Amino acid sequence: MHVLLIGSGGREHALAWKLRRSPLVERLYAAPGNPGIAAEAELVTLDPDDHAAVTAFCRDNAVGLVVVGPEQPLVAGIADALAAAGIPVFGPSAAAARLEGSKGFTKDLCAEAGIPTAAYGRFTDAAAAKAYVATAGAPIVVKADGLAAGKGVVVATSVEEANAAIDACFAGDFGAAGAEVVVEEYLEGIEASLFALSDGETAIPFGTAQDYKRAFDGDTGPNTGGMGAISPAPALPDRLVEEAMRTIVLPTVRAMKARGTPFRGVLYAGLMVGTKGPQLIEYNVRFGDPECQALMRRLRSDLAPILMAVANGRLGEVMADWTSDPAVAVVMASKGYPGPFEKGTPIRRLPKPADDVVIFHAGTALREGALVASGGRVLNVTALAESPAAARADAYDALRAIDWPGGFYRSDIGRMR
Ligand code: AMP
Ligand code: GLY
Repeated sequence: MHVLLIGSGGREHALAWKLRRSPLVERLYAAPGNPGIAAEAELVTLDPDDHAAVTAFCRDNAVGLVVVGPEQPLVAGIADALAAAGIPVFGPSAAAARLEGSKGFTKDLCAEAGIPTAAYGRFTDAAAAKAYVATAGAPIVVKADGLAAGKGVVVATSVEEANAAIDACFAGDFGAAGAEVVVEEYLEGIEASLFALSDGETAIPFGTAQDYKRAFDGDTGPNTGGMGAISPAPALPDRLVEEAMRTIVLPTVRAMKARGTPFRGVLYAGLMVGTKGPQLIEYNVRFGDPECQALMRRLRSDLAPILMAVANGRLGEVMADWTSDPAVAVVMASKGYPGPFEKGTPIRRLPKPADDVVIFHAGTALREGALVASGGRVLNVTALAESPAAARADAYDALRAIDWPGGFYRSDIGRMR
């Protein structure tokens, strides 16, 4: 089988690394990829928003499966274009990607299906949103409805802060994403991520992870796309995974099917685990980054037939087998990230790590043959070992051996909290 992978981050490097190890995958293409992915796949120049070009490439190269990593091409309808051309695709239609693309859409779906989540209101004007805040009180959470690159959420500790966040949204701070605002109840508990695969009819759990969103040690500093992850999530034992599948994921899959917009792909449920059991914070319609990097290290099964079964509506025919050993993924980012950072700093030495360590590239580039940092999150050092402590030790040994003065990382990824 020929496979085309769309994306260029650490998540896509991990997917490429795993797909490359499948005996079913004869050729692996990646668009646009990165220097790390280039070791696993043939990089091709394709604009994922040019659906005609992607479809033509698949036809010309007998691509039998397209795997879409990030959410943006999904929200823009790449899966619809491929499906219309008869090309199997791992990733939801634009209509199903609204589970990530519109927080208000997801909240309404949860309300209709009785899915446990925070109480909420949807607003298109500031006065009504502020009236809701005045009644509900603080702490309270204000969210831009649309995709805001992870920046559209304010957990407000006072009514004044909530009102300021509402004003910022309607003032256009998040562009079109803030034209509608969701205001919701503050949930208490421990956050954890559950991944589930759905073929539109049914769903299976596909691993758990704990994400470290803040830039600095001890969960301090600004929110980022994720500075590290550990899988499995200590907060989600099997019993709670089963509960979340029953109360959250499967009702969502049924509701999406009933609306005529079945969800095919990976449903990433951001959960708050508290005294009421797992509650949904939000959905993403793709793998987490860097959670995926940790997950792929733990997956024993061949990934290709699993993704193919999702694309073809035959999820019942496959099983996913995992090692119970934990994996950690530590992100090395450009100094300054998630704020402004210098681009092009040289990564002077990236030594081959120990056997249980795999380094995935995110924002790297080659300049005159030398590896440089080209983005905010740049490298992902992953380790798989018999305990979280052992995985941490191995990952941090590998990190210390990397000579990149322009980079930084958290030193507490995988430590129990
Ligand atoms: P989101 O982009 O919806 O995942 O929100 C970003 C972060 O804000 C989450 O990871 C949580 O830490 C926090 N958050 C969002 N919604 C809530 C909520 N209802 N209660 C408490 N924290 C929340
Ligand atoms: N690490 C969080 C995300 O992928 O959204």
